[in-house]
Amino acid sequence: MDVTDKIALVTGGACSIGRTITATLARQGAHVVVGDIVDNAFEDIKEEIEGYGRQSMTAHLDVTDGNSIQKMVEAVISRFGRIDILVNNAGVIAAPGWADRDDTTEEDWDITHSINVKGVANVSNAVIPHMKEARYGKIINIASVAGKQATVINPPYAASKAGVISLTRTMAMTLAPYNINVNAVCPALLWTPMWEKIAYKWVKVNPEFEGLSAREIFDKSVAARVPLQRPQTPEDVANLVAFLASDAARNITGQAINVDGGSRTD
Ligand SMILES: NC(=O)c1ccc[n+]([C@@H]2O[C@H](COP(=O)([O-])OP(=O)(O)OC[C@H]3O[C@@H](n4cnc5c(N)ncnc54)[C@H](O)[C@@H]3O)[C@@H](O)[C@H]2O)c1
Repeated sequence: MDVTDKIALVTGGACSIGRTITATLARQGAHVVVGDIVDNAFEDIKEEIEGYGRQSMTAHLDVTDGNSIQKMVEAVISRFGRIDILVNNAGVIAAPGWADRDDTTEEDWDITHSINVKGVANVSNAVIPHMKEARYGKIINIASVAGKQATVINPPYAASKAGVISLTRTMAMTLAPYNINVNAVCPALLWTPMWEKIAYKWVKVNPEFEGLSAREIFDKSVAARVPLQRPQTPEDVANLVAFLASDAARNITGQAINVDGGSRTD
C-alpha cells in the first residue's frame, strides 16, 4: 500500500470515513489535501497529516459548486504541480430531517444526486485534465452496497450509489488510455453519524426494533446480515482505498469492491 510522495485529494475528508482515509494515505506516505464543506476540524487534520511527516493542505469545498471545486484544484496544482490520487468520499444519506420523516421527498432525490453522483463527476472533471497530462492517476469513488441491492428505507440514496458505480465503470473505460485507474469501494455497515440516522429510519419499517437505541439496532443488523459477524470500520474502507491508490493495484480498474464482511449483495 505504498503511496510515498503521491499527492492525494480526499473530498469530505474532515469527518468519519473520509478522515480515516486521509490519515491512512498520509501514514502510507502521501501528501494529503482535504476538501470539505465542514472546516472546523482542519487544524487537527493538518497536524495529523504532518505528524506522519507529510505535507498537508485543506480547502473549503462544496462538491456541488463549480467555483469552489475550481478554486481548490487550482490551489493544489499551484502548490504541488499535480494530483495523483483523488478519493471522492463526500456523500449524504438524504435531505435534513429524513430520519424523522415517513416519506421520501423530492429534496431527498435532489440532494443525494447532486452531492453523491454529480459531486463525483464535478470534482473528477476538474482533476482529470491534470491526470491526463501526467498520464497517471488513481480515482477511488466511495459508493455503497446500497447501490447494488434493493433498499426499502432509502431509494434515492441507493439509486445515487448505483449511479456512482455506473459512473466509475464508464470513467474507467474512458480514462484507461491515459493510465488512470478508476474504482469504487462499497462499504456496508459502519457505525458513523450517517448510520445513526439510518437506524431511526429502520424503526419505521421494522417493529422488531421499536424501543431500541440506534447502536442496538446497528448491532442487531450486523448480527443478522454480516456473515463475519462484525461491523466494518473506517479503517477497513481506508485500507482498501490505500491499496487501490497504490501501484500494487495498477491492473485493477472499473471495479466496485465490497467491504461488507461477506454480505451477499451482488
Ligand atoms: N457510514 C456508513 O455506514 C456508510 C456505508 C456505505 C457508504 N458510505 C459512504 O461513505 C462516505 C462517507 O460516509 P460517512 O459515513 O463518513 O459520512 P459522514 O456524513 O460522517 O461524512 C461525510 C463527509 O462529507 C462531507 N460533505 C457532505 N456534503 C459535502 C459537500 N457538498 N461538499 C463537500 N463535502 C461534503 C461532510 O462534511 C463529511 O465530512 C459517503 O459517500 C457515504 O455515502 C457510508
